Amino acid sequence: MEKIVIKGGISLQGEVQVSGAKNSALPLMFATLLADGQSEISNVPSLRDINTAEKLLRELGAEVTSQDNCYRINTGKVKSVEAPYDLVKTMRASVLVLGPLLARFGQARVSLPGGCAIGARPINLHLKGMEALGAKIHLDHGYVEATADKLRGAKISFDMPTVGGTENLLMAASLAEGETVLENAAREPEIVQLAEALNSMGAKIEGAGTAIIHIQGVASLTPLKCQVIPDRIEAGTFMIAAAITGGNILVRGAVRKDQEALISKLIETGTVIQPEADGLRVIGPKNLASVDIRTSVFPGFPTDMQAQFMALMTRAVGTSRISETIFENRFMHVCELQRMGADIQIDGHSATIRGTAAMTGAPVMATDLRASASLILAGLAAENTTEVSRIYHLDRGYEKIEKKLAGLGANIRREQE
Ligand code: EPU
Repeated sequence: MEKIVIKGGISLQGEVQVSGAKNSALPLMFATLLADGQSEISNVPSLRDINTAEKLLRELGAEVTSQDNCYRINTGKVKSVEAPYDLVKTMRASVLVLGPLLARFGQARVSLPGGCAIGARPINLHLKGMEALGAKIHLDHGYVEATADKLRGAKISFDMPTVGGTENLLMAASLAEGETVLENAAREPEIVQLAEALNSMGAKIEGAGTAIIHIQGVASLTPLKCQVIPDRIEAGTFMIAAAITGGNILVRGAVRKDQEALISKLIETGTVIQPEADGLRVIGPKNLASVDIRTSVFPGFPTDMQAQFMALMTRAVGTSRISETIFENRFMHVCELQRMGADIQIDGHSATIRGTAAMTGAPVMATDLRASASLILAGLAAENTTEVSRIYHLDRGYEKIEKKLAGLGANIRREQE
C-alpha cells in the first residue's frame, strides 16, 4: 500500500491545471450506452473510478480504448445488461447504467450498492422514478432487476434533489415515449453537462440547471462526442490549499459560476479571489477569519468540499460551525484532524471547530475520498511531517494530486508503506 508524506509549512505559489470532473465523466461514459456506435469523450481524468467505469463498460460488452485522457467507447456489441456486485461495491456510480440499459435494451440487472463510509446512500428514488416510467422492478439476491417493454414519459417529483437519481432518469427518459417532467431535480453543473451531452446525441431536454426539467422522449440517439468540464471539487481543493498555506495560486480551469458558494465563504475568511482569463487566482491571508458553513444541494455549499473546508477552519482565528446536511456520516476526518492537534467537537450533524495557531504533523488515515484531501490540506499547513495512509481513496478522485502540489512548491511525495 502507498502513503503520502508531506512536510508542511510551505506557502504554495504558482499555477495548477484542474483535470476533468470525475462526477461528470462517469455519467457521460455510461450515457454512451444509450446509442449504438462509437462515442468519444475527451478530458477524462486518470482516476481509479474511471478505471472502474471502463471495466464495467467492458463487462457489458462495450469496446473501450483510451489515449491522452480521450476515451473511445463503442457500444455496438453490448451483450450483457448486468452490473455485477464486485464493480458496484467498488464504485456506487455504477448504478448509473440502470437508466441507459433499461431504456435501450428494455432490461437491466444492477447490484444494489450496499453501505458506504459517508452515509446509507440508498437508490430508492432512482427506482421509484424508473417505476413511474413504467419499469417493473424487483429485487433478487441483492440485485435490482428492471424490465420494460417500452418506457413511457411521466411526471416524477423527487422527494429530495438527488444528483445520481436525476442523471439516471434523464438518461432513461431520453428514450421513453412521450414527455417526462422531473420536479425537484438536482441542479449541479454535472447535470447540466449531461443534459447538454444528451441533447447533442439527439435528446430533447430543457431546463437542466433548474429544479424542473422537461424531457421529450425520442426513438433513438446517436453516439456522443464531448469534452468533460473541469472538476469544481478539485479546483476548490486547490483554492483551499492556497488559503491554508497563505499562498498565491492560479487555479487554471476553476469556473467562478460553479464555485459561488465556496468563493463567498473563502472571501469571508479573508482570502482574496481574482478572476483571470483561464481560471481564478487565490491569495491566502496572513490570518484566516473563522466562518460557518452548512452544506446543501447546488448552488449551496457542496458536501464534497466540507472536509477540506474543515481543515481550513482548524487554522482560523476564532470558532466556526460546520453543518453537514447531505450525508449522515461525513465527519470521519474529524478524528484524524484531532490527531494533528485540531480542536473539534461533533454534535450530531454539526461540528464546532476552534481554530489553533499550530497543528503538528502525524500519521493519519484516509477514510474516504474528500476526507483524504482534507488530511493532505491539513498536512500542508502543519509543522513537521504528516503521513496519510490508505490513499487508494484519494486515487479514486484526484489526478496526480501530489505531483500537482509539488509543482506549487509543496514538499510532498508518494511512498510505499
Ligand atoms: N438519496 C436517497 N435516495 C436516493 C438517492 C439519494 O435517499 O435514491 C439521498 C442520499 O442518501 C443523500 C442525498 O440523497 O443523502 C443526496 O444524494 P445524491 O443522490 O445527490 O448523491 P449521489 O448521486 O450518490 C453525487 C456525487 C457525490 C456527491 C453527491 C452530493 C457522483 C458520482 N457522486 O452522489 O460525490 O457527494 O452527489 O453532491 O456524482 C464524491 O465525489 O466524493 C462524492 C461522494
